[in-house]
Amino acid sequence: MRLCINIDHIATLRQARLESEPDPIVAAGICELAGADGIVCHLREDRRHIIDRDVRILKEIVKTKLDLEMAATDEMVKIAKEIKPHMVTLVPEKRQELTTEGGLDLAALEFKISPAIDLLKEDGIKVSVFIEPSPESVDMALEIGADMIEIHTGKYGRLRDANDIITELEIISRTAKLAKELGIGVNAGHGLNYGNITAIANIAEIDEVSIGHSIIARAVFTGLGPAVKEMIEIIRRTRP
Ligand code: PXP
Repeated sequence: MRLCINIDHIATLRQARLESEPDPIVAAGICELAGADGIVCHLREDRRHIIDRDVRILKEIVKTKLDLEMAATDEMVKIAKEIKPHMVTLVPEKRQELTTEGGLDLAALEFKISPAIDLLKEDGIKVSVFIEPSPESVDMALEIGADMIEIHTGKYGRLRDANDIITELEIISRTAKLAKELGIGVNAGHGLNYGNITAIANIAEIDEVSIGHSIIARAVFTGLGPAVKEMIEIIRRTRP
């Protein structure tokens, strides 16, 4: 299972002072040196953390792969087609939210998402859609031409009751298995941390995880390289 690091929070710290540091570009290099398989950043409409310059430079310097998270708006599709990241993850976006709050409602948004996927794929950009864990979402993702799904693990990350956790893991696992059967790549992300990653790594169909908050939070105390390495070690124990 590949580990991709979301470096938005490095940019959040920079934007808190509108300064030039800490620079997410440096963070990307450190994550890659520590063994990360990819770098993720979310260019939001309000540019609250990652800014256009970051995405452009990341595309130049990232050696593994750059996953650009974005809403399926005309503005973002235009930027992605210019910069050509290795992949795009389409996410819902609300201005007031602290972080992405849930998966895309593909049925409701088909008219918006499907043309965006076509335009991105025209330029050879692989497209993932961030979805709630459910068989219906997988069917819909296939129908609109997504190459991959990213299963929203936010609910799993928040649950505290053991039975609820088992139930949610079963839903995630069923979603991942169905996607694999249908030939779509399977990523997962949101709310994953050092304590809850093992159960996700146990689901063999999950190809990749995208983790930001827990790794950057730990990095404040241990440094970014060690924080990334520790997550890799935990994953490797389950998925050598
Ligand atoms: N995947 C998606 C689609 C996200 O929007 C985010 C948050 O930016 C993440 C993964 C990473 O979530 P977290 O910061 O909770 O690890």
